[in-house]
Amino acid sequence: MGKKRLLTGLQPSGQIHIGNYFSAIKPIADMYKDYETFLMVVDYHALTTLQDGPKMRQNIFDIVRDYVASGVDPDDVVLFKQSDVPEHTELAWIFNSLVTVAMMMLGHSYKDKVANGKEANVALFEYPILMAADILLYDTDIVPVGEDNRQNIEYAREIVSKFNNAFGQTFRPPAEMIPKTVGMVPGTDGRKMSKSYGNVVPAFGTRDEIQKAVMSIVTDSSGGVPANVYAIHKLYKTELELAPLYEEYKGKYKALKEALIEGIDSYIGPMRAKRESITDDDVKKILREGAKKARVIASAKMTDVRQKIGVAL
Ligand code: ADP
Ligand code: TRP
Repeated sequence: MGKKRLLTGLQPSGQIHIGNYFSAIKPIADMYKDYETFLMVVDYHALTTLQDGPKMRQNIFDIVRDYVASGVDPDDVVLFKQSDVPEHTELAWIFNSLVTVAMMMLGHSYKDKVANGKEANVALFEYPILMAADILLYDTDIVPVGEDNRQNIEYAREIVSKFNNAFGQTFRPPAEMIPKTVGMVPGTDGRKMSKSYGNVVPAFGTRDEIQKAVMSIVTDSSGGVPANVYAIHKLYKTELELAPLYEEYKGKYKALKEALIEGIDSYIGPMRAKRESITDDDVKKILREGAKKARVIASAKMTDVRQKIGVAL
């Protein structure tokens, strides 16, 4: 039996932090070889919130470097950019005609924006439809995503049944894979680490950046284990490895932070070097090759779809 097909997407929305790395990137790097893997840079999804050309361009370069530096071999996966395969937006338009406004109104991220008083643009409203097109174009079996994307996969399955009912068997329902995560990684201020809170430890930062971030981690003064330092340390070392260290330096927060800086720095040293060795031209080549492979599949699927809906004469 052939390998199952796995597909996921990452938005090029800024420098990744260690929360993103351990929950979204590393799990893919660890398992991609067991599948036929498609990794997508979903730039048109990012456009729903990032409207800054130079930043978008920089983020696209960054995210490809992040994947490769994290251990994804671009020759072993199809690594491509959504906007390079216009079949995605074409299929999304076709799905638009099958999905009701009432169903989309129940979308979590749309509802959250509106509840927070933000003005949601039309593309954000449609976000799950484009995501369904991303997934269904490739007859994807498995979609690794975070818990927050569970509903989007349900929408994709709903669209499969609507389309197949209307036009005959065409698409296959995908399954979500919600990895057992590392849980919520705390930021330097103890809240959830998040780009939007400015409390991050950058995943591939320089030693100086890491030092600055770690030294600013908020600790309480109860004299025991500094919870936020420990929660981050645990990502890099086993609890067994950490036990003697935290015993020896009990209450000595500075020494524990120094050990953490050392731990992070030696973990990411090789990845940082790898990341820096990838030129802009390398990235462009990876994406060009990826798009070529993706388009072979996507365009065959669209030929079938256009036939089924009756627009191909
Ligand atoms: P941010 O909150 O920094 O903007 P995103 O919303 O872009 O992060 O999330 C990208 C991925 O990283 C998602 O899979 C999300 O679940 C994961 N992620 C983000 N922050 C954390 C965190 N603090 N701990 C664990 N995972 C996180
Ligand atoms: N919605 C995903 C996120 O939260 C990104 C994404 C877009 C995606 N298309 C996808 C994930 C297809 C998996 C499969 O960033």
